[in-house]
Amino acid sequence: MKLLALLLVVISSLMASTAKTRTQAVTYEAFNNAIGTGGSTRFEKEIGLTYSLNTLVNASTFIWQTFGQGAGDRKNVQRVRLYIDDTDGVAYASNDDIHVNANYVGNYSGDARREIAGVLYHEATHVWQWNGRGKAPGGLIEGVADFVRLKAGYAPSHWVGPGGGDRWDQGYDVTARFLDFLNGIKAGFVADLNRKMKEGYGDEFFVELLGKSVNELWSEYKAQFGG
Ligand SMILES: *[C@@H]1O[C@H](CO)[C@@H](O)[C@H](O)[C@H]1NC(C)=O
Ligand SMILES: *[C@@H]1O[C@H](CO)[C@@H](O)[C@H](O)[C@H]1NC(C)=O
Ligand SMILES: [Zn+2]
Repeated sequence: MKLLALLLVVISSLMASTAKTRTQAVTYEAFNNAIGTGGSTRFEKEIGLTYSLNTLVNASTFIWQTFGQGAGDRKNVQRVRLYIDDTDGVAYASNDDIHVNANYVGNYSGDARREIAGVLYHEATHVWQWNGRGKAPGGLIEGVADFVRLKAGYAPSHWVGPGGGDRWDQGYDVTARFLDFLNGIKAGFVADLNRKMKEGYGDEFFVELLGKSVNELWSEYKAQFGG
């Protein structure tokens, strides 16, 4: 069994001092479970748990604003925990917990602090977004998370540009760019779409919000950017 070193920082984010918003308080916690690895050493040197927690707090506020949500209509999540793990991949969110791979930080070439901030905006969106009770396409879920990352100013340089990609629900940067285009047609579109995804999902949501099918909208989008 490997030695597990644990570091804990807690920031309680209290929205206001009334009884109602006190129940809306969110506690953020961060743990480094990868201490002793090269990735963890770089994480502690260039990023750190405190910066990560502050980023998560800011990301949550930004996400609620992007989704047009007040304290009463956001997801009822009371605690968000961040784990820096000695694992594979980049990062994932599960049960309101966010896991970031220390090896990814260790091997990242470039500004690791900015990259991890972008990753945290993406993963925090998974904590707060609705997923159509599990029925929304995975590509749309990932596209919304990268849309938030884009709007927060953390799009990495390797992403496709506007008009890139082959399918509207390809996910990640491709779907994020498409959602950004749709949000330009109708301000608040992504917020409205997310709101509809609270109870379920159907492609007709695009017709209901924009008067055209998602395939028509994708064709117009591709035409606009010469694709
Ligand atoms: C969080 O937001 C505050 C207020 O805008 C800002 O001063 C701070 O630098 C932000 N922190 C991070 C880690 O982004
Ligand atoms: C880079 O990633 C590999 C796994 O792909 C890992 O074994 C190695 O420890 C990582 N390097 C650092 C500095 O974390
Ligand atoms: Zn994701």
